[in-house]
Amino acid sequence: MADEPLILGIETSCDETGVGVVRGHTLLADALASSVDQHARFGGVVPEVASRAHLEAIVPTMQRALTEAGVTLADVDAIAVTAGPGLAGALLVGVAAAKGYAIAAEKPVYGVNHLAAHVAVDTLEHGPLPEPAIALLVSGGHSSLLLVDDLARGVTPLGATIDDAAGEAFDKVARLLGLPFPGGPYIDREARAGDPAAIAFPRGLTAAKDLVAHRHDFSFSGLKTAVARWVEARQRAGEPVPVADVAASFQEAVCDVLVNKALDACRSRGVPTLVIGGGVAANSRLRAMAEQRAARHGIRVRVPRPGLCTDNGAMVAALGSHLVASGVAPSRLDLPADSAMPLTTVGV
Ligand code: KG4
Ligand code: ZN
Repeated sequence: MADEPLILGIETSCDETGVGVVRGHTLLADALASSVDQHARFGGVVPEVASRAHLEAIVPTMQRALTEAGVTLADVDAIAVTAGPGLAGALLVGVAAAKGYAIAAEKPVYGVNHLAAHVAVDTLEHGPLPEPAIALLVSGGHSSLLLVDDLARGVTPLGATIDDAAGEAFDKVARLLGLPFPGGPYIDREARAGDPAAIAFPRGLTAAKDLVAHRHDFSFSGLKTAVARWVEARQRAGEPVPVADVAASFQEAVCDVLVNKALDACRSRGVPTLVIGGGVAANSRLRAMAEQRAARHGIRVRVPRPGLCTDNGAMVAALGSHLVASGVAPSRLDLPADSAMPLTTVGV
């Protein structure tokens, strides 16, 4: 609707420079420049390389987004920017750019939480999020279960990973299987030709004794080690590693735990809506398994399309739009970038 506020969102927390434009819940532009190819040979994101790439990409990406949306900066009602968590230098580029554009065009600026933006992005595809909802947030740096009572004002963490994030586990297992970085999409692809029941890998923090203290928490480092030991044993025996079967069995173990714990959180809180966000939410098996198992319990699963699950500017614009619509005040112009911003802070 033309009378809804026009919000621009800037994302630079990791290796994607993203600028998105939304009007209300309608996505108008989602421009992205990735430095992933520059990090691939290091097997992980190099912070200094990422910061420099953001510096080079931010202005052209901004221009592309405005052109794609068919608007000018003067038309924009507010600018939202990821203020944390993320890589300090990378965040600074986006925050400085947002402040510059905000001052030049006399617009309010909203510094927002990257993780809350991964939840908010779903509103661009499925409309307003029914609250309360349970959110399963699975990215390269975070794995959490959240109770979302009011996304504009704060979320309640129910549990989180006690070691590796889900995406990190995908990336590390991909590496030991000789697949490129970032490994998640490659494991997803390999797994399609594999047997998910070929190898019984462990499901972390699901034993009865673990559920007492860690009912809503995750652990993936034991799984990663189990995969490494299994692969090493094959190599020592001089046998070929069945990459597709290992990928499928590993992926099945991760998804099994994520889905069961998310649905358990929904049931224990009597919440009928599960929203899944973050890069790992792009995983085809996670999406299918969540749909299937949720249906048995009458729980509705909302997952944005894969392109909106991984980092982008549209998610930041979506959260900014939600904050504006909820009457939340803008940030001060001296807002800091906070690389360790807690999950409970939605906007600064
Ligand atoms: O949310 P995101 O783009 O960046 C962070 O905020 O961390 O998530 C990146 C993570 C990486 O670990 C990547 O391997 C994983 O998401 N990922 C996937 C898939 N696509 C991306 N993991 C599993 N399956 C996928 N299809
Ligand atoms: Zn992310």
